Amino acid sequence: MILVTGGAGFIGANFVLDWLATHNEPVVNVDKLTYAGNLQNLRTLQGDARHQFVQGDIGDSALIERLLKEHQPRAIVNFAAESHVDRSIHGPEDFIETNVVGTFRLLEAARHYWAGLADADRQAFRFLHVSTDEVYGSLKPTDPAFTEEHNYEPNSPYSASKAASDHLVRAWHHTYGLPVLTTNCSNNYGPYHFPEKLIPLMIVNALAGKPLPVYGDGMQIRDWLYVRDHCSAIRRVLEGGKLGETYNVGGWNEKPNIEIVNLVCGLLDELRPRADGKSYREQITYVTDRPGHDRRYAIDARKLERELGWKPAETFETGIRKTVEWYLDNADWVAGVQTGSYRDWISQQYSQENKASA
Ligand code: NAD
Ligand code: TYD
Repeated sequence: MILVTGGAGFIGANFVLDWLATHNEPVVNVDKLTYAGNLQNLRTLQGDARHQFVQGDIGDSALIERLLKEHQPRAIVNFAAESHVDRSIHGPEDFIETNVVGTFRLLEAARHYWAGLADADRQAFRFLHVSTDEVYGSLKPTDPAFTEEHNYEPNSPYSASKAASDHLVRAWHHTYGLPVLTTNCSNNYGPYHFPEKLIPLMIVNALAGKPLPVYGDGMQIRDWLYVRDHCSAIRRVLEGGKLGETYNVGGWNEKPNIEIVNLVCGLLDELRPRADGKSYREQITYVTDRPGHDRRYAIDARKLERELGWKPAETFETGIRKTVEWYLDNADWVAGVQTGSYRDWISQQYSQENKASA
């Protein structure tokens, strides 16, 4: 049994689906179901006894302690977070509450649980913290990619809150001996990505005939990894990672934003041409830049490749095509997210009485 937090969000849901497709080991999935948590991401698991969903907050110590006691997981994989940089700029408080205070409370619950385990179980236990390359700050055009030794220089409220959580995880290992692992991954893309982030926003806006907002000059660089490759990296680190170590995860795929937007438009032109025969590129609109916008991220994943033999299964070309096709094939999911009807579905499934935290 493993306990996953934030498993109704983009990466967490992909991880749970991927885990249960490759393992028989059950998953307890604790998610607060913020705007970003969507149980429709997990609907193919309905009736699957290996998946138990609990609506709850990682900051709710009593709930987490109870779940740990009841399910006796051999590992915790912590995805739960506020994850969107633009939201963190307009309202940082939730980021501090979940990413910093929530991670602290989860670590404390994990520590108490772990300390009470029998020897063999204590040895085997793992706390894997899922983090981001954004903690390292921004690179200049000629800088080498981020290694695990790079200084922490977070620039946004989001990345600062994730950096703080990484430091807490490190300290809980150093001070208390909690067996932790941390992964720092580059930008993910793929199915179930909430359409506030660049790639899904561009697909969804293009199809709706809306402008495609490119911040500033569009020459900011991100390093893109298909979400299922991130999931396979987390599995690999969980199996073989050295305690207390951090692992960078990335697919060596740096691209300027405008190139990504052009690629998405080109795929849509091929797969779902506009009725007027023009290219979706016509909808590209340059808008005011994001404050404090990091110019470039790039991940050096050689440690993970060398020590744990991980490599991604998708190239950017195969991954982005799959992603665009997924959004075209899942118009109902997109409509649910856009109209907010996925919230109604959640409240039908999880009435007040069913809430674990109620
Ligand atoms: P997401 O916003 O899609 O999902 C986050 C999930 O966490 C949601 O289901 C939400 O309901 C849940 N959640 C939020 N606060 C919670 C709380 N207090 N208690 C329990 N659940 C809570 O985010 P994502 O893109 O899937 O990111 C998952 C993790 O991966 C985050 O820790 C993020 O920092 C990290 N990460 C993301 C990327 C990326 O490109 N998206 C890259 C590297 C690392
Ligand atoms: P985003 O998907 O928000 O991820 P992050 O900020 O965590 O890297 O943004 C990816 C890049 O795309 C980033 O440089 C900001 C830019 N961007 C736009 O140009 N337009 C948009 O509408 C969005 C959401 C992002």
